[in-house]
Amino acid sequence: MKLRVLITGGAGFIGTNVSRKLIAAGHEITILDNFHPQIHGENTSLPEDLSSAVRLVKGSVEDRELLYKCLRNQDAVVHLAAETGTGQSMYHIARYTSANIMGTAHLCDFIVNEEHQLKSVVVASSRSIYGEGKYICPNHGVVYPHARTNASAARQFDVYCPESDECKLQLAPTDENSKILPSSFYGITKQVQEQMVIMATRLKNISSYALRYQNVFGPGQSLKNPYTGILSIFTRLALQHQSINIFEDGLESRDFVFIDDVANATVAAVTKGANGQHIVNVGSGVPTSVMEVAQEIKSFLSSNSEIFISGDFREGDIRHNYADLGKLKEVLGYTPSWSFKEGLHEFLKWALAQNDIPATMADYQQSLLELKERGLLNKN
Ligand SMILES: NC(=O)c1ccc[n+]([C@@H]2O[C@H](COP(=O)([O-])OP(=O)(O)OC[C@H]3O[C@@H](n4cnc5c(N)ncnc54)[C@H](O)[C@@H]3O)[C@@H](O)[C@H]2O)c1
Repeated sequence: MKLRVLITGGAGFIGTNVSRKLIAAGHEITILDNFHPQIHGENTSLPEDLSSAVRLVKGSVEDRELLYKCLRNQDAVVHLAAETGTGQSMYHIARYTSANIMGTAHLCDFIVNEEHQLKSVVVASSRSIYGEGKYICPNHGVVYPHARTNASAARQFDVYCPESDECKLQLAPTDENSKILPSSFYGITKQVQEQMVIMATRLKNISSYALRYQNVFGPGQSLKNPYTGILSIFTRLALQHQSINIFEDGLESRDFVFIDDVANATVAAVTKGANGQHIVNVGSGVPTSVMEVAQEIKSFLSSNSEIFISGDFREGDIRHNYADLGKLKEVLGYTPSWSFKEGLHEFLKWALAQNDIPATMADYQQSLLELKERGLLNKN
């Protein structure tokens, strides 16, 4: 059945890829996006292949009237529009709260109070809501370590058992029943977003999916946003043969999931139409260290960059996290198919073909300065 789908933030990385797949499957897409300059620079157009294939509305989800207008006559909404920088969220708190929570509040007001045809809502949640996520302690079983603060001062990057700092913890895949313990304001906004959507859709008996994306990467991700996306930042540094500053000891890890897998899982959620409210991790299920990321990028690009382990620590960063994918398979029938290396090579080939990458790293240096000035980047 052909669906009319509104994608908020649809001009962004995940949104453009989800749009392409939904269009290919015959669905009708409207995109609402404010072309945030931090992500798009001066470009306020969609990629060429999408511009004639979707209805584009330029504006913010914080503009209630405009959002309502876009939502009328839609069968489904994929709510992606958001401020997305973990580090930046630690000092632009009202800005992140307004875009992420107020935007979602307008969506929920519409769902609850207006006449509409919405049958399905997908909201972009994030692994950041787990904070440090799940670990196994030999003495205390499953534990959820607290957020680290000022870790670099003592060079104690690893997390400790909340019951006793004598215990040596073992990292475990984080499942959807794990404790919610966000370590950034961004994470808090994502937690609130998903809970709001779940409550509003439950009230109206509409199906909904909160997709807890891990670290998404691949062709199309912003190469201009210096506040988030280590793959983009490392790639830009490597292309300019500049030193790559690795925070902590480089052993911190993330679950990097390729965009094609994320777009497939998101499309499955939009089109599934199952009843009820569902919370699903979307990741690769594999942790990869930040050091490994830097080394792979440097090697693929034959860069002369020095990889420099600085021991710096950024407030709000987690040590490790990777997803348990049981529910992704069970609820959405999806299993990711891209390995990190395969995906990274696709991303780097794409990045090499872009001609609008900022020529200097001045924006990145500025983003670090903003953290330092506020005491949020602890130098070793
Ligand atoms: N990329 C990841 O690794 C990742 C991980 C977890 C969660 N997420 C979530 O997925 C969603 C999409 O992320 P992405 O990677 O595509 O980010 P992105 O920055 O590429 O895209 C976000 C889009 O939203 C738009 N936008 C921002 N504020 C807006 C507003 N107030 N009104 C309308 N549009 C607005 C931006 O212009 C941009 O086009 C976000 O909600 C993000 O929090 C992403």
